[in-house]
Amino acid sequence: MTTQLTLNGKVFTVKSDRDTPLLWVIRDELGLTGTKFSCGEGLCGACTVHLDGEAVRSCQTTLSAATGKKVTTIEGLSRNGEHPLQKAWVALEVAQCGYCQSGQIMSAAALLAKSPHPTDEEIDAAMNGNLCRCGTYNRIRAAIHRAAGKV
Ligand code: FES
Ligand code: FES
Repeated sequence: MTTQLTLNGKVFTVKSDRDTPLLWVIRDELGLTGTKFSCGEGLCGACTVHLDGEAVRSCQTTLSAATGKKVTTIEGLSRNGEHPLQKAWVALEVAQCGYCQSGQIMSAAALLAKSPHPTDEEIDAAMNGNLCRCGTYNRIRAAIHRAAGKV
């Protein structure tokens, strides 16, 4: 059985079982490796993608749950990496090891889409579930402020 999945503006026909976590459909079947696997339990945010614009944990979202919705990964956030958040991330050299950063940017993008000029408190609340073992939290917050109003 196959499933139609709308991802980054294109419709893909995928063969994964419908209860497969979306993360594995994205990475293993479709080969988009910007979305990361870390805890696999919904605790770290490394696997964050958008489902109809909402930030969700793709390790905890089944293919079935994503069917009929628009899925966006870091690869589809913008053409050529020119989303204001991606530019701000580069300008402020946010990343250290980088492993958590695509998830961080996807959560930040969902926040700015709803709240174009978030306060520090709103940023902290929205980004609370995205962990960074390198401790880049202050630069993440600064980069979100830098991109504010440009999304
Ligand atoms: S890998 Fe999905 S939340 Fe950690
Ligand atoms: S930059 Fe290394 S885990 Fe966040």
